[in-house]
Amino acid sequence: MKDSIRHLIQQALTRLTAEGVLPEGLSPTIQVENTKDKTHGDFASNIAMMLAKPAAMKPRDIAQKLIDALPADPQISKVEIAGPGFLNFFQNSDALAERLEAALADKHLGARKNGAAERVVVDLSSPNLAKEMHVGHLRSTIIGDAVARVLEFLGDEVIRQNHVGDWGTQFGMLLAFMEENPAAAESELADLEGFYRAAKKRFDDSAEFAERARALVVQLQAGEPECMRLWHRFNSISLSHCQKAYDRLGVKLTPADVMGESAYNAELPGVIEALREKGLLTEDNGAQCVFLDDYKNAEGNPLPVIVQKAGGGYLYSTTDLAAMRYRSQVLKADRALYFVDQRQALHFQMAFEVARRAGFVHEGMQLEHMGFGTMNGADGRPFKTRDGGTVKLIDLLDEAEVRAYELVKERNDLRAAKGETPFDEAELREIGRIVGIASVKYADLSKHRTSDYSFNFELMLSFEGNTAPYLLYAYTRTASIFRKLGKGIEEIDGHIELHAPQEIELAGKLAQFGEVLGSVADKGTPHLLCAYLYDVAGLFSSFYEHCPVLSAEDETTRTSRLRLAALTGRTLKQGLQLLGLETLERM
Ligand code: ARG
Repeated sequence: MKDSIRHLIQQALTRLTAEGVLPEGLSPTIQVENTKDKTHGDFASNIAMMLAKPAAMKPRDIAQKLIDALPADPQISKVEIAGPGFLNFFQNSDALAERLEAALADKHLGARKNGAAERVVVDLSSPNLAKEMHVGHLRSTIIGDAVARVLEFLGDEVIRQNHVGDWGTQFGMLLAFMEENPAAAESELADLEGFYRAAKKRFDDSAEFAERARALVVQLQAGEPECMRLWHRFNSISLSHCQKAYDRLGVKLTPADVMGESAYNAELPGVIEALREKGLLTEDNGAQCVFLDDYKNAEGNPLPVIVQKAGGGYLYSTTDLAAMRYRSQVLKADRALYFVDQRQALHFQMAFEVARRAGFVHEGMQLEHMGFGTMNGADGRPFKTRDGGTVKLIDLLDEAEVRAYELVKERNDLRAAKGETPFDEAELREIGRIVGIASVKYADLSKHRTSDYSFNFELMLSFEGNTAPYLLYAYTRTASIFRKLGKGIEEIDGHIELHAPQEIELAGKLAQFGEVLGSVADKGTPHLLCAYLYDVAGLFSSFYEHCPVLSAEDETTRTSRLRLAALTGRTLKQGLQLLGLETLERM
């Protein structure tokens, strides 16, 4: 809708320019916003105020001229001037109702991509395999997953790339420890974290062990078979830990999406060669560097991207350059989105720049770092266990499920006391699992990804506010209407008619679904979808309170409200699924 209004304004501007009312050469960005107070229309634009100065006219005069020049549109019932010169657009409620009917008949709920479908690489999760996944990887995994789902829903082709850290000097230490304790290795690897700690201790305590570890790194790099066997063994155990976490989180990642750092090993010498041919390499203390003039350190000296160490070893950046080349040349991506900690922002800015200069990525390809902030504890400090260790993701999920189970059990007892049919134990467990996981995910997804956020079980498990329990519950309310009715919306003929203000407000919101998904896809920001669903749930609540559905005054009204409730339910369910949340029909 906003797009069509923008288009209408553009046509009016073109016409006024041609008629000489406005000077030539103006190309303002036309802004159209949803209004908060619907008595002032549904959409507003400040275009007349923006043009006042360059056109040397009063904003209200421009506004009037624009209104006169606006082409008629069946979606718009009227346009008014407000305040200093805002243009307020009123949506035609019949046209709105028609759009909702079309959405209800469409399995994509009327949401379509604006431009052509693209091929998008989504770099997500990407933990280091040497250690167990910890809470820090939660964000990359679930934000990336949600955005990937939205892109796919809108028709893009998504290629997920789990760029796991499966290479590097730590592996020497781990392999040395595996070699030393062949029997222990099997059982201890079940606890990767403990295994890593034990190996590290050996490494720090014994010079001989450290020596052996370093020798193993060299052998690993040379592809020595026994060494490779141990390395594969280690990685497959570590990856199976990750896969367990993905499955529990309901994240769409499989072993086939793994394209780890080691996959690029063979390409690394070629990356250096290509940089050399382009004249981008400078030797600095024996290391091969690319200096970028725009990046300076605190002393004002140019910062290098080091691509090869003095000893010949390659770095994280070298691998990323090889990965970019692969994503452009082999995967033929139009966009590559990197869901990686904000603290790596500089790394990505510089690596993107080097890749462009070296011609590793085709010109039209967009490279976007979708950075995210740190997950803190309720005290605002980095999230740690009581004894100061990193919190394992699996432990966190266990706790969430237990807490959610207790919560739903409590509500269940109240239900029983009120004479309603309570859930049995197995159902309570399942509801607890779904609510627990959803709460952890939603709490994260609902914050703007770039800000740090505080992990807080009490807040995320509340049935009030912008939380998973609130939204899951809102969905069950729509589902319960149809349960009571005893049939689905497909069996109800008729159409939506919008009269009551609560109906119109809810309808206007529902019509924005596609637009919201478009923004999530462009900016990689699932919190916009969360905020939207929260609004939908709130508007549904007041609609439900003011507009009786099953006991509506007449058949036409009842049908219309049932259809509106059905579309609300489908929008909530689809939205929650796009965020990667499982929904419940009853809770
Ligand atoms: N393994 C890295 C880490 O845990 C993240 C990798 C992100 N992706 C990439 N292409 N660099 O910090």
